Amino acid sequence: MKSITVNLEYHKYDILIENNLVDNIGVLIKKYTNTKKCLIVTDSNVYSLYAQKLKSIIDKEDITTFICIIQAGEENKNIDNILKIYEELAKSEIGRADIIVALGGGVIGDMAGFVASTWMRGIRFVQIPTTLLSCVDSSVGGKTGINTSFGKNLVGTFYQPSLVLIDSNMLKSLNDREFFAGMSEIVKHALLFDKEMFEFIEENYTRSNIEKNIDNLLYLNCKIKASIVEIDEKEKYERMMLNFGHTIGHSIETSAGYGSYLHGEALAMGIIFAIEYGIKLGITKNISILERTKKILNNLNLTTDIPKELNLKESIKQDKKKSNKNINFIFIEDICMPKIIEVDIDNIL
Ligand SMILES: NC(=O)c1ccc[n+]([C@@H]2O[C@H](COP(=O)([O-])OP(=O)(O)OC[C@H]3O[C@@H](n4cnc5c(N)ncnc54)[C@H](O)[C@@H]3O)[C@@H](O)[C@H]2O)c1
Repeated sequence: MKSITVNLEYHKYDILIENNLVDNIGVLIKKYTNTKKCLIVTDSNVYSLYAQKLKSIIDKEDITTFICIIQAGEENKNIDNILKIYEELAKSEIGRADIIVALGGGVIGDMAGFVASTWMRGIRFVQIPTTLLSCVDSSVGGKTGINTSFGKNLVGTFYQPSLVLIDSNMLKSLNDREFFAGMSEIVKHALLFDKEMFEFIEENYTRSNIEKNIDNLLYLNCKIKASIVEIDEKEKYERMMLNFGHTIGHSIETSAGYGSYLHGEALAMGIIFAIEYGIKLGITKNISILERTKKILNNLNLTTDIPKELNLKESIKQDKKKSNKNINFIFIEDICMPKIIEVDIDNIL
């Protein structure tokens, strides 16, 4: 089993990665939390695949387990479903000593984390990410949140999990679209911090090759995320680098309507925008990375051209209204050379 400890000033937790970890999850939850009761929050797709099995594995450890099912999809990451989870917590009488288990992708992780941070002013939660994206990114670092009609992830908290359990075997049931969308966060990490990983994906872009190396890739990406979060938990500076590609990615998601593009699909377009923009401004010095990154993303079945019909200007202008000042845009001068530069939103427009 691979393990990483995330060492924060006031909190410390482990990320455990293993193929077929699921069978040990009950024992691990007992060992790490010593809880007697838990609520598994999951979505409608993951429920039919894994939730019942997980419930019986946790039950075996004398932990009374309840399940709350949310309809799958980004469009359901909203306040109505937060209320639904609170209702289930109340019905199951989940108290201060009990835990929430987030079983699913980033949508479930972000919502369950938000609920955990606010229920009784904060109870513990365990992340069991089941998409590639949530394994390498959203389950680590403690950002929680929901979407509103005013923008993506506008309501949220910083709230770290007590434990992250990653079973790479669960990723086998992802369809290709979801699987490759998750790869865009890996490409992002590689561009920012790991040249060797970038070159590895350049050569190994088929699903079967990626799967052969999956535990190592999960480990390397969680390690990258964990080390940035350790330096800057609340995104005062360094953690902003992880937003590479996200300014435009989020605008694409918002203007197309939540759920039209997967987060990772929008991110792939945002990454290419950020490189092109960097070249235009003379910040990105190694211009060959544009074609190399486009090729990688296209090989991973990800589109890199922003659809013309999307009105990104409107959603970016919303950002301008919110911040009323310049925004920190993440560029790369070259692979492993990220740069945070304040830009005027009008310049992006
Ligand atoms: N908190 C953070 O730091 C952070 C970072 C990146 C992204 N995010 C958020 O994560 C969300 C995107 O996450 P996502 O891509 O995991 O989306 P998701 O949670 O919607 O999952 C994608 C789809 O895959 C299905 N699914 C999940 N696991 C499966 C499995 N093992 N087999 C088959 N199907 C499965 C889900 O039901 C869903 O339909 C966005 O809301 C984004 O804002 C958060």
